[in-house]
Amino acid sequence: MSSRYPLFRVLRRELRESRFGARAETDLGPMIGRQAELAALRLVWERAKSGNRQAVLLTGEAGIGKSRLLQALADGIAGDGPARQVFQCSPLHSDNPFWPVVQQFPAAAMIVERGVAEADGRDRRQIRGETVDALAGLLLDTTQAGPALIVFEDAQWADRATVETAELIPIPGGPGVRKLH
Ligand SMILES: Nc1ncnc2c1ncn2[C@@H]1O[C@H](COP(=O)(O)OP(=O)(O)OP(=O)(O)O)[C@@H](O)[C@H]1O
Ligand SMILES: [Mg+2]
Repeated sequence: MSSRYPLFRVLRRELRESRFGARAETDLGPMIGRQAELAALRLVWERAKSGNRQAVLLTGEAGIGKSRLLQALADGIAGDGPARQVFQCSPLHSDNPFWPVVQQFPAAAMIVERGVAEADGRDRRQIRGETVDALAGLLLDTTQAGPALIVFEDAQWADRATVETAELIPIPGGPGVRKLH
């Protein structure tokens, strides 16, 4: 064999906060188009900044640019110094209660474990409700110091308990669903 091929060796494992980041962080390239969508999200952000909590469901087929759009939003609002929390949902953990939240907050793992430990003697539904309340509290804590951008990436894979937790955060009527075409 006369040709030479480079060899690669894995040196270390790094955790990334999102699938998108893992794939595209090194060479994101310029943002193309999506000006209207970006402007709409910026408007939502401005409302959130003035204290009115907002929620947007960004929907569209795989690869259409949902994560890229969020990245552009995050870049655009970086000057506001927002707290940024990305909960990455995974198809491998759709049945794993609270998985995306536990990945982000060690404190969440302790709360969930405590619930499991108490599961014998007490009503399971009550424990689950308490756990959901406590985790929703953790999520809201990230908004105490100033404006926060909280993202559930690939939410179609979120486990039921995580959905319940997110639903518990009161949103007084935001802009709703935004579909990317
Ligand atoms: N407006 C855009 N400008 C430049 N690049 C873009 C744009 N939209 C998408 N891309 C690129 O296309 C690829 C797919 O986009 P992205 O990962 O954001 O899609 P997605 O909707 O989040 O997909 P999935 O549902 O699989 O998570 C990425 O490499 C991204 O950088
Ligand atoms: Mg994506």
